[in-house]
Amino acid sequence: MNFDTIIPRRGTGSIKWDRRPELDPFWVADMDFASPPCVLDAVQERIDHGVFGYAHAHDGLNEALTEYLTARHKAEVSIDHIIHLGGLVVALSLIARAFVSAGEAIMTCTPVYPPFLGVAHDAEAETIQVPHTLTDGKYSFDWEAMEAAITDKTKVFILCNPQNPLGRSFTKTEVTQVAEFCHKHDLVLVSDEIHCDLVFNEDVQPFFSAIHLPEKLKQKLIVLQAPSKTYNIAGLGYAFAIIENDSLRRKFNQTKGHTLPEINCIAFYTAEAAYRHGEPWRQELLAYLKKNRDTITDFVRNEMPYLSIPDIEATYLAWIDCSNLGLKNPAEYLEKDAGLFLSDGAYFASPQHIRFNYGCPHSRVLEGLAKIKASFDKLASATQS
Ligand SMILES: Cc1ncc(COP(=O)(O)O)c(C=O)c1O
Repeated sequence: MNFDTIIPRRGTGSIKWDRRPELDPFWVADMDFASPPCVLDAVQERIDHGVFGYAHAHDGLNEALTEYLTARHKAEVSIDHIIHLGGLVVALSLIARAFVSAGEAIMTCTPVYPPFLGVAHDAEAETIQVPHTLTDGKYSFDWEAMEAAITDKTKVFILCNPQNPLGRSFTKTEVTQVAEFCHKHDLVLVSDEIHCDLVFNEDVQPFFSAIHLPEKLKQKLIVLQAPSKTYNIAGLGYAFAIIENDSLRRKFNQTKGHTLPEINCIAFYTAEAAYRHGEPWRQELLAYLKKNRDTITDFVRNEMPYLSIPDIEATYLAWIDCSNLGLKNPAEYLEKDAGLFLSDGAYFASPQHIRFNYGCPHSRVLEGLAKIKASFDKLASATQS
């Protein structure tokens, strides 16, 4: 697979490229790579068939999913515990409506993927935000602040693991401690693991899915996963939830009611293809992303010492702290000065940061970094003179 190829996306109805066509985009979390050939073949097969009526999760998908969970996560998950979904943001909203009432609260740690901060509104509830701690360049949980912030109205905790935008893949100890916190306060623990197949250096620290929590800590657990980020099929809309507890699953399904659209056959068949045949491509992707990650980390640390960037363990998203520059809004500054479209940290509840999406050809990463440097260097020298 040649990840160096630049595939023009402008004018294809892409949010990333067409929302602000005058800007150079490194923002929303999709990649500029073609999906793996097995996925493209699955799309082609549906097109060749030519009929696009209502679809359901066919046996092949169910088999591929359970085999994936066994092979990748060493987890035996019953297909009866899996709920097929058209996306994970809708699942988060559904969870808010199912398990939180008006006036109650959802807790999450920041900075975090923006919908985590917004779904409580769907239940007329509050969001309790607890900042992650940063110690010796590593983000983790602030257990004391979490204890201090919890109220008896808090019903759900949403964990992002691997963490978007921080790039952490939390350890077994950290995930277990989150689960113990939830157990102690009787919270539903939602573990959004959409980025779980984009973890680097798993020979050192394998991804720890919440599926592996001890039984006692799994009674109120909802695990969310999808092939969408890894295989770059987010626009096709397929994801799934694992809910082992019967009454929790029933409540989730009841709340679903008639509110979600049907999932389409291309989404089902491409998910099957990705999980069944995508592993060699995923390995190549990870090697390529790792090179991009190293480039970005080294470049920021060596060429722009006024910024800081944590070690990135997972995802294709780099979280860059620009607070030393004293800008109110670094993303807006880069938009105006350099024509760049980056994610503004304010949406993640952390202003003065930017998120750079490096899921793109290496040459594009270099271009983006050069533009950031030219723009910020100007500013840094102006503040010095
Ligand atoms: C943590 C996390 N959850 C969910 C999503 C979106 O999921 P979906 O496209 O399935 O709604 C994203 C997209 O970036 C994400 O980073």
